[in-house]
Amino acid sequence: MANNRESIGNTLKVAFFLCLVCAVVVSTLAVGLRPAQHDNRMQFRQQNILQAAGLYEPGMDVRAAFESIERRFIDIRTGEYVEKPDDYDQQRAARDPAQSIPVTPDPAGIRRQAKVAEVFLAIGTDGAVERIILPVHGYGLWSTMYGFIALEADANTVAGIGFYEHGETPGLGGEIDNPRWQRNWIGKQVFDENGDVALEITKGSVPPDAPNRQHRVDGLAGATITANGLNHTVEFWFGERGFGPYLQRIRGQYNQGMDDGFALARSIEE
Ligand SMILES: Cc1cc2nc3c(=O)[nH]c(=O)nc-3n(C[C@H](O)[C@H](O)[C@H](O)COP(=O)(O)O)c2cc1C
Repeated sequence: MANNRESIGNTLKVAFFLCLVCAVVVSTLAVGLRPAQHDNRMQFRQQNILQAAGLYEPGMDVRAAFESIERRFIDIRTGEYVEKPDDYDQQRAARDPAQSIPVTPDPAGIRRQAKVAEVFLAIGTDGAVERIILPVHGYGLWSTMYGFIALEADANTVAGIGFYEHGETPGLGGEIDNPRWQRNWIGKQVFDENGDVALEITKGSVPPDAPNRQHRVDGLAGATITANGLNHTVEFWFGERGFGPYLQRIRGQYNQGMDDGFALARSIEE
C-alpha cells in the first residue's frame, strides 16, 4: 500500500496538481491585483507631480490635493492645446509609430517622442495657474530617468523637480532623488534673455559669484554621467522639439503684461 502511494505515477500526479493549484493562485492574484497596482502607480505619479510643484506634504490625501491639478494635452510641434481622452498614455503613444516621431539627433536617448504631450497646471484658489508641471525623461548612466520639472507661471523659473522612475546607482546617480540637491533647482531660470535654453547642471558647486548662476545647478559628486544625461534631458524637453513652442507662447503672453496665468494658459487654445 505504502509502496503504491509513493509510486512514480502518484508523485507526478501530486506534483502536477500542486503546480496547477499554484499557477491558478499566482495568475488569479496577478490579474486581480493589476488594477490596484495601476492605482498605486498613478497615485505615486500624482504625488510626484505635487512634489515637483512644491505642493506635497507628507501624510496628505494625494487624490484630494490632485484635484487642484489640471491635466492638459499639447501638440508638441505647435505648442497648442489639443483634446485627448482621459486614458491617453504618452509613453504608449511614443511607442506607436502612428502617434510618434523618431528623435534624431538624440543625445538624451529618447528614441521616439509622442506627437501629443501631457502637461499639468496647478491652479490656485483664485483660478490662476500657479505652476506648469512638465513630464520629462532621458537616459542617465544605467537607465531612462522619468520625472517632472515644475515652472512658475512665468514659464521660465523652476519651482521644483522630482523623479518617479530611474535605475541610477543609490548614493551616486540616485542622488537625483535627494531633496537637498533638488532644492538647488528652485528659482533657477531655464531660458536666457535670447530665449535659448541655458539651464544646466555644472560640475561641482556653483560659486556664489559665478556668471549665469541663475541658470546653473550644483553638480552631483561621482555622478557626472547621470548629470550629463539630465542636461541633455533639459536641453531636449525645453528646446524646439520639446515644450519650447508651448512655453514660448506662454512667456510671450506673460511678458505682454497679462498677469493672470490661467487666462494666458487658456487663451493659447483660442
Ligand atoms: C558601481 C558603480 C556605479 C556607478 N553609478 C553611477 C551613476 O549612477 N551615475 C554616474 O553618473 N556615475 C556612476 N558611476 C561612476 C561613473 O562610472 C563615473 O566615474 C562618474 O560618473 C564620474 O563622475 P565624477 O566626474 O563626478 O567623479 C558609477 C561607478 C561605479 C563603479
